[in-house]
Amino acid sequence: MLVIFGASGDLTARKLVPALYNLYKSKHLPENFVVLGVSRSNLTDGEFRRKVALESVYLTERTKNDSAEVINTFADKFFYEDLGADYNHGYDRLATRISDLNAKYRTDGNYIFYFSTPPSLYEIIARNLSQQQLNIEDNGWKRIIVEKPFGYSLETAKNLNSGLQHYFAESQIYRIDHYLGKETVQNLLVTRFSNSIFEPLWNRNYINHVEITNAESVGVEKRGGYYDKSGALRDMFQNHLLQIVSLIVMEPPLDASALEIRNEKVKALKSLRIMRDEETLFNNTIRAQYLASVVDGKPIKGYREEEGVDPNSKTETYAAVKFYVDNWRWKGVPFYVRTAKMMPTKVTEVVIHFKSPHHQLFKNSDLQSKDNQLIIRIQPDEGILIKFGVKVPGQGFKVERANLDFYYSGLAENNVMEAYERLLLDAMQGDATLYARADEVEAAWAFVDPILEYWKRSDINIYGYSAGVWGPANSDDLLEGDLKWRNPGANLADDPGFCLIK
Ligand code: BG6
Repeated sequence: MLVIFGASGDLTARKLVPALYNLYKSKHLPENFVVLGVSRSNLTDGEFRRKVALESVYLTERTKNDSAEVINTFADKFFYEDLGADYNHGYDRLATRISDLNAKYRTDGNYIFYFSTPPSLYEIIARNLSQQQLNIEDNGWKRIIVEKPFGYSLETAKNLNSGLQHYFAESQIYRIDHYLGKETVQNLLVTRFSNSIFEPLWNRNYINHVEITNAESVGVEKRGGYYDKSGALRDMFQNHLLQIVSLIVMEPPLDASALEIRNEKVKALKSLRIMRDEETLFNNTIRAQYLASVVDGKPIKGYREEEGVDPNSKTETYAAVKFYVDNWRWKGVPFYVRTAKMMPTKVTEVVIHFKSPHHQLFKNSDLQSKDNQLIIRIQPDEGILIKFGVKVPGQGFKVERANLDFYYSGLAENNVMEAYERLLLDAMQGDATLYARADEVEAAWAFVDPILEYWKRSDINIYGYSAGVWGPANSDDLLEGDLKWRNPGANLADDPGFCLIK
């Protein structure tokens, strides 16, 4: 049984229910699977079913070719219970309801409690569940899935960890990071550890620098209130991007178990060099905000004009950080990671820049970039591309960069599970590999905290950028020498290009 706290919220309709629908259609859900939605709204089972299953726009898109019978059978799996306004009462009633559903649908006492409420309620819910003994596993397993944001700083994350661990064992806690549910993020592990051609090169001897871009073409949309207290560093970098970093940096695990993979990821995160002094922070971080602009003749609101945003806000919608990894493999290799809203296109990619040949034999080549690149496109247009030099046919030795590429869309069996589907299924099966462990989350916060502190206390240096450009004018200053960010076009094979916001 899946019990969703915050069931009338956006995430349930936008992500969870559509993911469950896909799992149901692909026959991944057990016959006796039921969902109990819990929130403060006063709804009947029927109203909840209509709201989440039958009328949700996110679902109707998927159900449009399905028969009413299929959709109704799915909707019949949903039940609803309301709790008091503070999520601190009504748990005896909730426990009775859970127990009734368990008896009726024979769910064997196996429960997942999904925390999709404001984070301030996580501990309250955990405490109340434990008071009802809904954390005890002597009759079926009990797990909690905790949504982001997991903490607001290192201290708050630690407090939350110890608060939850007071009521649930670490093995029962699943901290979700939906980037880990993305096929292409998982493929980082496969690319690295199932191919012998990359591992010998995957180190400071051959890699010049690593670049990660996460760009979104939209602004904060309707989430200004939340975002203004968060900012790009907390919203994307501390979790999703550092997860990607950890998969690139980590050493080969002993085996593919959750324990070993997560052990290596923690080691990787702990080896990121924490920036402590002001000069280092000044030289290695850039933050910026999108400004009001006109794109394609269409006016775009500036961040400070967005609903819920303080008109004097210094919250960043663009964050770029340069850092080093202090271990044997990566010593001296700069990592450049950026994330931003209102970029020219939506794209997430990792670029491994290999060192140029030590001796340039073919001097008359007019290559823009002399390095070989391995580009791993996380989204969209998922795939992998290697850029390498080829001879231009004709006289002499003129060299050009050619692309060797692979697209997921080219796979015959292209049935890629969406992130939430994969993660929900894993939690049901008790596989925590793709969930963040307490020490992982804390190591990520330990790296990010000083930057947040610096940005908080410094009243200088928040730059502006127009919507639809690749960040502030000085964004390349972060990169060493004459390096520039690779500003990808909409297609993987595009050379650095520029496309306008849609
Ligand atoms: C969420 C952030 O975690 O990830 C959002 O809170 C962001 O601000 C979203 O838009 C991006 O996810 P994806 O899967 O579209 O890259």
